[in-house]
Amino acid sequence: MTETVLNLRVKDILQRSGRGARPANPCTMVIFGATGDLTARKLIPSLYNLKRNNLLSNDFAIVGIAMDAHSDDSFRKDIAERIEAFAIEAVDKDAKEWLLSRTYYLSGQFNDPAIFQKLKTLLGEISTRHNTRDNAFFYLATSPRFFGEITRQLGAAGMIGEENRFRRLVYEKPFGNDLQSARALNTEIRSVVRERQIYRIDHYLGKETVQNMLVFRFGNGIFEPIWNRQFIDHIQITVAETVGVEKRGGYFEHAGTLRDMVPNHICQLMSLTAMEPPNSFHADAVRDEQAKILNAIQPLTGESVLHCSVRGQYGEGEIEGMGVLAYREEPDVAPDSKTETFVALKLSIDNWRWAGVPFYVRTGKRMAARHTEVAIQFKQVPFVLFRETDVSHLEPNFLVMHIAPDEGISLHFSAKMPGMEMRVGGVDMDFNYADYFGTDGSTGYEVLIYDCMIGDQTLFQRADMVEAGWYVVDPILDVWKALPPRNFPNYPAGSWGPKESEEMLERDGRHWRNHLHHPPVIHR
Ligand code: BG6
Repeated sequence: MTETVLNLRVKDILQRSGRGARPANPCTMVIFGATGDLTARKLIPSLYNLKRNNLLSNDFAIVGIAMDAHSDDSFRKDIAERIEAFAIEAVDKDAKEWLLSRTYYLSGQFNDPAIFQKLKTLLGEISTRHNTRDNAFFYLATSPRFFGEITRQLGAAGMIGEENRFRRLVYEKPFGNDLQSARALNTEIRSVVRERQIYRIDHYLGKETVQNMLVFRFGNGIFEPIWNRQFIDHIQITVAETVGVEKRGGYFEHAGTLRDMVPNHICQLMSLTAMEPPNSFHADAVRDEQAKILNAIQPLTGESVLHCSVRGQYGEGEIEGMGVLAYREEPDVAPDSKTETFVALKLSIDNWRWAGVPFYVRTGKRMAARHTEVAIQFKQVPFVLFRETDVSHLEPNFLVMHIAPDEGISLHFSAKMPGMEMRVGGVDMDFNYADYFGTDGSTGYEVLIYDCMIGDQTLFQRADMVEAGWYVVDPILDVWKALPPRNFPNYPAGSWGPKESEEMLERDGRHWRNHLHHPPVIHR
């Protein structure tokens, strides 16, 4: 957790108690791809939330750019509708009107220098009108194929220089589609902007529960001494979704789950679970430690890809009692598609803390439940004490960080069941975020946008981190490409993935945790 994030939470609390908080720096947020889904679902609601919490500067403005024809007024109308839909009841009219009164729109092609000249002029006018001090950050909520072009055009139009102002660029994922393309993109954009101006988004870092992993590990004395290979048997990371590819078949056919989830979100969860304590919460102190872990993940080589990776594609099935289509029947998906919608990997981190501790990770669409968690399984105690009792076996201790949807942390341990005989039950000690902190209706992007405005890069990917993520998955992509799957679809929608995923753990004498809520398990 960064100072910023801590501050934001504190600010939130201060704000609610009416004691004030520090708004972000004056600036204009320029959104490329302003008529797209991300702008509508995340960016505009986040700006509205930030305004309501008094975390935007009074000297703030928004410029939307996209190819669609719009006037300032028609764009404002769309934004008003977004805010009303997001807020559902009791829209804060003042916050809405305030945002609309400082929103502008430009329509054009991202490869047309003229639109960048118009933007430059508009930013100058806005700086005078709204006192934004000529500060701006450019949010590229576009298809990644425009990242290089937009960056070059901004540079050519003289909009990147930081004399007496700041200029920052925010890149959404995916950042490249393999190691080579990610490297090429880094080289391309860094020939125009400096690394300290670049904010590569991984929206998982906007999640409170993900940020809390650092506080949990380093703000408590009791976990760190046992957070290593001496006490930990293995770690399981599950990112299970019940949704299918929705309307994103076109993108997904080229990406697949491995590219879509592993080099970014799963690698983030791994690095936060495994990293050493940073020297401070400064951006590079935290990111250096994360990068060390990413670089220590051992890439699977040819032979090991076959044993330590599983891919799957969902067939038709049932989700929450409703019949759903197979992946191959989804819109924009080929009827013989070989694209994976499920991945399970056995990875290892080659350093002193983690040598010999497997990290089993899996992620998939159309799975049995929506659930993201990091589960730490501790080593078993010797059974000797229970040898002459009725207890047949003991359950391992699990510490589970529930990332979504029921945010919290639980510790699974054995307890004596009341009664004359020796009976042992597995029980859970639960901390539930909502019970302590309530639910705040945030989108997860508020903190990321706020950090862009104040210039804190802690929650953003540095070039080396992005490349390290691709370094992990590249060899798997190569082997999978050379050996196309022959058994797709190989798991029904609504299940926990292909049987090979369970078999991968069984070979090591382990199992995936598929039960989400444990009733006490009694062992006699
Ligand atoms: C995105 C992926 O980055 O993350 C999607 O492209 C995926 O395919 C999504 O559904 C999951 O994010 P969240 O926040 O819903 O867990």
